[in-house]
Amino acid sequence: MDLFNKTSILFVCLGNICRSPAAEGILKQKAEQRRISDKLFIDSAGIGSWHVGQLPDSRMRQCGKQNGYDFSSRARQFNKKDFELFDYIIVMDEENYHDVKLRCPDRQLMQKVHYIKEYFNKYKKENIVPDPYYGDMADFQFVINLLEDACEGILNDLLTH
Ligand code: 4NP
Repeated sequence: MDLFNKTSILFVCLGNICRSPAAEGILKQKAEQRRISDKLFIDSAGIGSWHVGQLPDSRMRQCGKQNGYDFSSRARQFNKKDFELFDYIIVMDEENYHDVKLRCPDRQLMQKVHYIKEYFNKYKKENIVPDPYYGDMADFQFVINLLEDACEGILNDLLTH
């Protein structure tokens, strides 16, 4: 609890145009449905700066729309201040974890960093949310399926702790 007494959650992926903005949009919608959105501050960021200021990838937006979501955040780059601002920093894969660790100013703060797989329920056998950037629409849909599962897990965790 820090940002205005809210629990703050940051999703991190490589580009902040596919996976993490989708996670942000899905968690925001699910939090609203459970009427706890006023208790949460939800954001996303990317390791790289290539897409800063851009809307999510058009394929991700289209796939989101087909699943009832509006992914319309603007990409920003992850930076070390995020370690202070956020309670939970949730990464999609090992590469994200490694890149976040490289930017971490204090080892203790790595306790805030979680792999998204920790929150899987239906998809417990999966280890990562794979980068769909060079994939097809089925890959984007799989990302949404995984993120929906994880976001349910995140909310269940927050509500029971
Ligand atoms: P994301 O996907 O990390 O899920 O946003 C990517 C988007 C762009 C690039 C890589 C991954 N890129 O290399 O531009």
